[in-house]
Amino acid sequence: MRSKLVAGFVVVSFVLLCSQAVFGQDNSPIEDIGGPGQRFDHFSTGFNLDGAHKTTPCSSCHVGSLFTGTPTDCVSCHSAAGFVKASRKHSSHNTTTDRCDSCHRTGSWSPVARVDHLETLGLCANCHNGIRAPGKPVNHLPTNTDCVSCHRTTFWGMARFSHDGITGNCASCHNGTTTSGKPANHIPSSNQCESCHNVRSFSMVLQVDHQQVIGTCSSCHNNLVAPGQPPDHIPTTAECNSCHNTRGWR
Ligand code: HEC
Ligand code: HEC
Ligand code: HEC
Ligand code: HEC
Ligand code: HEC
Ligand code: HEC
Ligand code: HEC
Ligand code: HEC
Ligand code: HEC
Repeated sequence: MRSKLVAGFVVVSFVLLCSQAVFGQDNSPIEDIGGPGQRFDHFSTGFNLDGAHKTTPCSSCHVGSLFTGTPTDCVSCHSAAGFVKASRKHSSHNTTTDRCDSCHRTGSWSPVARVDHLETLGLCANCHNGIRAPGKPVNHLPTNTDCVSCHRTTFWGMARFSHDGITGNCASCHNGTTTSGKPANHIPSSNQCESCHNVRSFSMVLQVDHQQVIGTCSSCHNNLVAPGQPPDHIPTTAECNSCHNTRGWR
C-alpha cells in the first residue's frame, strides 16, 4: 500500500511536471507538491481526500494516469458502470437513489451518517422491518399496511390514520385501549362495530344490525335510547316483538 502510494506519487509528480503547460504558471498544483516528503495538496483540486480516500492509492482513482475529468460524484466510481473500480451497493442494498452522499460519508459505508428519506425508494417496510432499521414496536396496533399511510419520516408520532384495506375486526383496535372504543353511553351491542359503522364516522351509523344488539326490544325502543311507541299506540305492555319485527314497525 505504502510503496504503491509512493510509486503513485512519483508517477503523478512526473505527469504533473510534464503537463506544466496544462496546469499553467500562476495557479500551478506543482507548487503544492513541493519537495520530497511533502504531500500533494489534493484539497486544491476541489475534491478533498478525506475518510477512506485519504489512504486510497492515487492510481485507484486516477486510472491510466487520468487526472483532468476524473469524476467527482460518488456513484461514478462506486458503481459497476464507472471505469474506476471501487466498492458499490450490494444487491441486497436498501432501495435508494444513487445520491450516495445523501446518506454516506467517505469514512465508511456502515454505519450510515444519516438517512435522507428523500433519497429512499420503495416501501418504508423494506428498511423498517426491525432488522435494517427500527420496525414496529411489539404493542403496535395490528396492520400490514406500509408505514407511510400513517407516519411521516421525521418522527413516529402518528401523522394521520389510514383505514385503507381495513374492512373488519374494528374492535381489535377500537377497544378503548389500542385506540378509541365504544363510549360509556353506547347502546348495548356486540363488538362487531363494522355491522353498524363504517370508517368515515362513528356518529353516522350505517345501519343498526339487530343481530348485534343486546337486550329486549323495549330496553332500547323506549323513546330514550331509540324510538318507542307513538302516543297513539294501542295500549299494551307486551314486548314489541310479539307484534313487530326488526324490519319495520308496520
Ligand atoms: C478517491 C479518489 C481519488 C484519489 C485517491 C486521488 N484523487 Fe486526485 N482527483 C480525484 C478527483 C475526483 C479529482 C477532481 C477532478 C476534477 O475536478 O476534474 C482529482 C483531481 C486531481 C488532480 C487535478 C487534476 C486537474 O485537472 O486539476 C491532481 C493533480 C490529482 N488529483 C492528483 C492526485 C494525487 C497525487 C493523488 C494521490 C495522493 C490523488 N490525486 C488521489 C480523485 C482522487
Ligand atoms: C474518483 C473516484 C471516486 C469518487 C468520486 C468517490 N470515491 Fe469513494 N473510493 C474510491 C476508491 C477507488 C476507493 C477505494 C476502493 C474501495 O474500497 O472502494 C474508495 C473508498 C471509499 C470508501 C471506503 C470503502 C470501504 O469499503 O472501506 C467509502 C466509504 C467511500 N469511498 C465513499 C465515497 C463517497 C460517499 C463518495 C462521494 C462523496 C465517494 N466515495 C466518491 C473512489 C471514489
Ligand atoms: C437513502 C440513504 C442511502 C443512499 C442514498 C445510499 N445508501 Fe448505501 N446504505 C444505506 C443504509 C441505511 C445502509 C445500511 C447501513 C448499515 O448497515 O449500517 C447502507 C449500506 C451500504 C453499504 C454497505 C452494506 C451493503 O449493503 O453493501 C454500501 C457498500 C453502500 N451502502 C453503498 C452505497 C452506494 C455506493 C450508494 C450510492 C450509489 C448508496 N449506498 C446510497 C443507505 C443509503
Ligand atoms: C433505505 C432504508 C429506509 C427506508 C426506505 C425508510 N427509512 Fe426511515 N429510517 C431508516 C433508518 C436507517 C433510520 C434510522 C436512522 C437513525 O437511526 O438515526 C430511519 C429513521 C426513521 C424515522 C425516525 C426519525 C427520527 O429522527 O427519529 C422515521 C419516523 C422513519 N424513518 C420513517 C420512515 C418512513 C415513513 C418511511 C417510508 C416513507 C421510511 N422511513 C423509509 C431507513 C429507511
Ligand atoms: C394504519 C396506520 C399505521 C400503520 C400502517 C403503521 N403505524 Fe405505526 N403507529 C400507528 C399508530 C396509531 C401509533 C400510535 C401513535 C401514537 O401513539 O401517537 C403508531 C405507533 C408507532 C410507533 C411508536 C411511536 C411512539 O412514539 O411510541 C412506531 C415506532 C411505529 N408506529 C412504527 C411503524 C412502522 C415501522 C410501520 C411500518 C412497518 C408502522 N408503524 C405502520 C399507526 C400505524
Ligand atoms: C348494533 C349496532 C352497533 C354496533 C355493533 C356498534 N355500534 Fe357504535 N353506535 C351505534 C349507534 C346506533 C350509535 C348512536 C349513533 C348516534 O348517536 O347517532 C353508536 C354510536 C357510537 C359512537 C358515538 C358516536 C358519536 O359521535 O356520538 C361511537 C364512538 C361508537 N358507536 C363506537 C363503536 C365501536 C368502537 C363499536 C365496536 C366496538 C361499535 N360502536 C359497535 C350502533 C352500533
Ligand atoms: C389497525 C387498527 C384499526 C382498525 C382495525 C380500525 N381502526 Fe378505526 N381508527 C384507528 C385509529 C388509530 C384511528 C384514529 C384515532 C382515533 O380517532 O381513535 C381510527 C379512527 C377511526 C374513526 C374516526 C374516529 C373519529 O373520532 O372520528 C372511525 C369512524 C373509525 N376509525 C372506524 C373504524 C371502523 C368502522 C373499523 C372497522 C371497519 C375500524 N375503524 C378499524 C385504528 C383502527
Ligand atoms: C340495543 C338497542 C336496541 C335493541 C335491543 C333493539 N333495537 Fe331496534 N333499533 C335500535 C336503534 C338505535 C335503531 C335505529 C333508530 C333510528 O334509526 O333512529 C333501531 C331501529 C329499529 C327499527 C326501525 C328499522 C328501520 O329500518 O326503520 C325497528 C323496526 C326495530 N328497531 C325493531 C326492534 C325490535 C323488534 C327489537 C327487538 C327484537 C329491537 N328493535 C331491539 C336499537 C335497538
Ligand atoms: C300487541 C301488539 C303490539 C305490541 C306489543 C307493540 N305494538 Fe307497536 N303497533 C301495533 C299495532 C297494531 C300498530 C299499528 C300498525 C299499523 O298502523 O299498521 C303499531 C304501531 C306501532 C308504531 C307506529 C308505526 C307507524 O309507522 O305508524 C310504532 C313506532 C310501534 N308500534 C312501536 C312499538 C314498540 C316500540 C313496541 C314495544 C315497546 C310496540 N310497538 C309494541 C302493535 C303492537
